[in-house]
Amino acid sequence: MSEETLGWVLTYDSYDPDREALHEALCTLGNGYFATRGASPDTADDGTHYPGTYLAGGYNRLTSEVSGRKVENEDLVNLPNWLPLSFCIGEGPWFHIDEVEILSYSQSLDLKRGLLLREIRARDAEGRITRWSEKRLVSMAERHLAALSVTITPENWSGKMQFRSGLDGSVSNNGVARYRQLASQHLDILELDHLGADTLYLRARTNQSRIELAMAARTLVHCEVCDVHPEYETHGSDRRIWQIVTCEAREGAPITAEKVVALHNSRDWAIAEAGLEAKRTLGHAGDFAQLQAAHEIAWRHLWEDCDIELTDGDMAVTELKLRVHIFHCLQTASPHSIDLDVGIPARGWHGEAYRGHIFWDELFIFPFLSLRLPTLTRALLRYRYRRLPEAKRAAREEGFEGAMFPWQSGSNGREETQKLHLNPESGRWNPDNTHRQRHINAAIAFNIWQYYEATDDYEFLTSFGAEMFLEIARFWASIATYNAEIDRYEIKGVMGPDEYHTAYPGIDASAEGGIDNNAYTNVMVAWLMSRTEDVLDAIPTAQAQRLCETMGLSPEERERWYEISRKLRVPFHDDGIISQFEGYDDLEEFDWDGYREKYDDIQRLDRILEAEDDAVNRYKASKQADVLMLFYLFTADELYQIFERLGYPFGPEHLRRNVEYYMARTSHGSTLSGVAHAWVLARSDRPRSWKHFQHTLDSDIADVQGGTTPEGIHTGAMAGTIDLVQRCFVGIDMRGNTLHFDPALPDEIKRIRVRLRYRRQVLDVDVNHDSLVIESRSYSASSIKLAYRGHYRDLAPGETCRFRLIKPDERLRDENRARESRNAAE
Ligand code: BGC
Repeated sequence: MSEETLGWVLTYDSYDPDREALHEALCTLGNGYFATRGASPDTADDGTHYPGTYLAGGYNRLTSEVSGRKVENEDLVNLPNWLPLSFCIGEGPWFHIDEVEILSYSQSLDLKRGLLLREIRARDAEGRITRWSEKRLVSMAERHLAALSVTITPENWSGKMQFRSGLDGSVSNNGVARYRQLASQHLDILELDHLGADTLYLRARTNQSRIELAMAARTLVHCEVCDVHPEYETHGSDRRIWQIVTCEAREGAPITAEKVVALHNSRDWAIAEAGLEAKRTLGHAGDFAQLQAAHEIAWRHLWEDCDIELTDGDMAVTELKLRVHIFHCLQTASPHSIDLDVGIPARGWHGEAYRGHIFWDELFIFPFLSLRLPTLTRALLRYRYRRLPEAKRAAREEGFEGAMFPWQSGSNGREETQKLHLNPESGRWNPDNTHRQRHINAAIAFNIWQYYEATDDYEFLTSFGAEMFLEIARFWASIATYNAEIDRYEIKGVMGPDEYHTAYPGIDASAEGGIDNNAYTNVMVAWLMSRTEDVLDAIPTAQAQRLCETMGLSPEERERWYEISRKLRVPFHDDGIISQFEGYDDLEEFDWDGYREKYDDIQRLDRILEAEDDAVNRYKASKQADVLMLFYLFTADELYQIFERLGYPFGPEHLRRNVEYYMARTSHGSTLSGVAHAWVLARSDRPRSWKHFQHTLDSDIADVQGGTTPEGIHTGAMAGTIDLVQRCFVGIDMRGNTLHFDPALPDEIKRIRVRLRYRRQVLDVDVNHDSLVIESRSYSASSIKLAYRGHYRDLAPGETCRFRLIKPDERLRDENRARESRNAAE
């Protein structure tokens, strides 16, 4: 199979059943409201194909019995399949991709137009050759509509043919092998009907969350060059309904079946009842061509705001991969999501892995959105705000104050991390303790502040952001304990982003798990505590007073936050290596070379070692960037300041040594790891950074983890690679009401052009190795502040600003000078 990589179209030019699930995930079409995998419409769930459709935020809980325990999981429900469409010649058999001889095959995801296209030439057992030409869309213009068009051209036969078009409610959640022992029947089918001859109707309800879903599908058959006289017959079973449309086919004359589908659910705004609305929406929907025209306009507008151009170089492949990433991020969260109560799930609405849950991955996703479609970030942050009461309850239940958001979030903000998870390597169900990743609470606060820096949206801060931020600070202050012996605050029993270390060696992770003083967590908390006063200062004084009053926030409590911000403990070892957590240095070194030889792939060391009756907890081995996340989130200068404030010596030399130390001890078991490492190395080791960048670009497209992408794309890695180009390579940093630039383009990229939105201005940024040009396109806002390596400019709406970039050797001299003057000042 070869993947043709032209700037805007991802093409597969052969059919490979073994890669079909991967292609289904990568060819998913969605609009932020719902998404449908790119499965062949003539197939059902059969081990090769998995036609899933998912509603954004469409969750349901079921209880299963696992290893003698009852466990409840909240899943992203696989909705009835609206795709079924096939044909047969005479009385059959029905066309099925796996049961014909394929003469040629091509499947393309057209990113610019948001279309999935499939062209197949196939010969049946009787030697009859047929061309199948398919177009599909999930409308970005009208969120409740999708459409599928299949044109059949008989090449060497004529006579009676039939189309079969259906709505299939016999689906279950069966997309992830690891979950197959768990309960999976989420839907009650309430109604199956047909409206007139050409329209089918299905109404279903999720059996716990009681979301009612309604689909209405109209299938029309026509031929441009002949009269087909279609005759309809409707059939049904207890969970499915379908139509057989019979017509006359003529050799060489293309016949088209066009299926338009409307989907509503009982949580939609401005509806009387989902079923009624599905019928009404379908009744007013145009044909495929009309839907496509509106859909393409909507996509064009999104691309105008969100594209990245890597011009003047041999970057077509990289550009295409970035566009695939932009495309899938926008299908997961789009302007249609703004009105919904949804977060952005780690695996898109593209499959069932991680059950559609929302994690800290937002940290990697929001910068892309905030600088392009900031109203979207605002909406996604409000998903968190609506769950603030639940986060406060969760903190209280654990004996803490403030708000403790869950590691995995779904419908109502309860902790959704599974209690037990299956290790496919050993076949054992083990306790899942990853909920101890309290650092999610630092990520949410960080995201709030970054959003504010990008937008200056103090109304958001006033109405929602500040309260969340301060409740999170309160949580951290209550979980932190004071150690008088060292005069430091400590945070115990948590986990860092590295999910391998759930507890100290030999300790039962479920009973007294967690590790102490995770450096990433503690530094984030130190930063967060030091920002609390800035948050209060950023909102109008009267509102700040009201908020303090409502929260019962006393000057003493704020004073304590200040103290914590200066006295959090960060463990070190080996003279300047930040210990990932307290006692990390006592762990054993891991035999990386030996294990790389023993296993093809050691990304999931935790599973490998558990299957060997060993435990990854014993080793200096991390799943993903943990300490190095700090170098990803903060600029070097910011970090030096944070450490200085904490009273720990930390400078450029420490930074370099820490990067090397942890790079050598990380298995990259999460796709997020590549983003962080590419970023961290971007200035110090460009070739290695480029390798991580390219590897992360391939995470999903090449399914580098060997089987995870078919279960859903990795939204964090996708958005993270876009952000690497837009913020890391262009060197953007939003700090102190200023948009700082410090470009460091990899040698491979000659020029980057992006359109960014910053504080109500639209900026066209054009950067190469010599110059940086920023053109403000908006005429409706006040000036913003820009800076390039300490040179500040005000940019009024409509103005253009140019900087000549210093060369790498000048940069080095510049940095040395800055360091010397810093040392002299000390
Ligand atoms: C990673 C987490 C991430 C989650 C969802 C896990 O494998 O370790 O950091 O949040 O996947 O993407």
